Amino acid sequence: MSEPTASRIETEVRRRRTFAIISHPDAGKTTLTEKLLLFSGAIQIAGSVKARKASRHATSDWMEIEKQRGISVASSVMQMEYRDCVINLLDTPGHQDFSEDTYRVLTAVDAALMVIDAANGVEPQTRRLLQVCRARNTPILTFVNKMDREVQEPLALMDEIERELGMTVVPFTWPVGMGKQFHGVMDLRQQRMRVFAPGEDRVAGTEEVLEGLDNPAYAERFGMQYDNAQGEIELVREAAPEFSLDDFLTGKQTPMFFGSAVNNFGVQEVLDALVELAPPPDKRVAMQRTVQPEEPKFTGVVFKIQANMDPAHRDRIAFVRVASGRFERGMNLKVVRSGKSLRPNSVVTFMSQKRELLDEAFAGDIIGIPNHGVLQLGDTITEGEALQYTGLPFFAPEMFRSVEVADPLKTKQLKAGLQQLGEEGAIQVFRPIAGSVLLLGAVGQLQFEVVAHRLEHEYGVKARITGSRFQVARWVTCDDPQELKRFIDANDHRMAYDAVDAPTVLVEYAPELRAIESNWPKIKFHALREHA
Ligand code: G4P
Repeated sequence: MSEPTASRIETEVRRRRTFAIISHPDAGKTTLTEKLLLFSGAIQIAGSVKARKASRHATSDWMEIEKQRGISVASSVMQMEYRDCVINLLDTPGHQDFSEDTYRVLTAVDAALMVIDAANGVEPQTRRLLQVCRARNTPILTFVNKMDREVQEPLALMDEIERELGMTVVPFTWPVGMGKQFHGVMDLRQQRMRVFAPGEDRVAGTEEVLEGLDNPAYAERFGMQYDNAQGEIELVREAAPEFSLDDFLTGKQTPMFFGSAVNNFGVQEVLDALVELAPPPDKRVAMQRTVQPEEPKFTGVVFKIQANMDPAHRDRIAFVRVASGRFERGMNLKVVRSGKSLRPNSVVTFMSQKRELLDEAFAGDIIGIPNHGVLQLGDTITEGEALQYTGLPFFAPEMFRSVEVADPLKTKQLKAGLQQLGEEGAIQVFRPIAGSVLLLGAVGQLQFEVVAHRLEHEYGVKARITGSRFQVARWVTCDDPQELKRFIDANDHRMAYDAVDAPTVLVEYAPELRAIESNWPKIKFHALREHA
């Protein structure tokens, strides 16, 4: 392969769009994802994402948990080409117990698509995810789904989104009716109406389009819903500001679209908006310097690790967001944290729902590097430069459990399993200095259940997970290594090491922590750890 010119990298980077799709469970995220793939031509028949969701249940036992609870536990990556752009779409787990995983996925994207169930409006998980996006100023597009049902009035929805999420909503389309009387959407920018017809068979460019938004003939055809929509649009025009690309890019405004994903309706507009409005990859901050995406040298950051994704492979994949330059299969890379070298030959991309071997990738892309533990969450990979990206967070857990094996002969398997699950970020694992019982830390109860299930089905260990007296954890650091050692020695009954050997103090109550903090003024206590 010829050496890429600077302008080729620049062109490739500029056509990347990398975004996450976020929603409360059941709003229609999976359905919309599938329709985006369908409209971009990445898949030919609807049903394959759903089928994949279903076949995951069939092939992977631990996913039973997902099935039972009707939630999407694992998140995944898909790539598609649309118009001149390469779109990387990252799915996120819907359940709040996996919010830490979702948070990390959101560090790897440049925009987010929020799916809202028009009947339910803003739901708890949407709110949480949006807070994360807002904290990072991630641009957000809003898709209001299920207009083919009896849902809330669009004006009320718009108002709710504005109030609850603290963003100005700018409608790009407006619905004409809803439920059985759903006639379509008015495209406010192109001044035309797309007529709704139920069914999953239609693809791009085949729906009926009526030019103009003010036509007595349409009013006759669509009845009072048409008149109502016109009246509402009038109100919206007066109340809502003009769309501002700047405000969208800084997360202050969100363009809103209405549709029905299951009926392939409204999907095209979203796809068009993604390529037209969502930003290409931006610069990224490392501890040493700020890196531009079109720089010639490859750099990337591991934001997610998933073990045993496919039981037939029993491997472990590090998901890497390419931060700059171009990746080429077989190139020599360095894991900055450990100094180890890496020469990935079987890197995968996630085109068209299948894992495929990848030859090259550019800033903005997500690549999957199979490995046996060389890569950890938060790792930076470069062609040699000592660079550490910041911003991949680990939160101090809010719940703790002790974990032991039912069968002592399986102690080794337990340790190996927990080590891997800990490195994957599925759970945090602490090794207390005193005693041999390992501690698990999580932000949501469901994480413990998934871990118990995976230990049994992937590592053949029945684990006994019981309560723990600890309730608060803080990572500790100190500029003076001697002082840190003194602190650890003096507190050895409540000290532990996490998966990357970072010392952690564990306490039963928050006031106890405050007392420790005031007794040890030189020690720093962290509720957030950004990298190893
Ligand atoms: P999620 O990934 O956000 O959890 O949601 P998912 O796409 O699985 O959709 C949740 C349910 O909502 C599904 O129904 C899906 O068919 C339905 N749905 C999605 N979009 C629309 C829409 O535009 N209109 C209507 N009326 N329903 C929609 P289900 O019964 O749970 O699953 P299934 O049996 O249809 O697969």
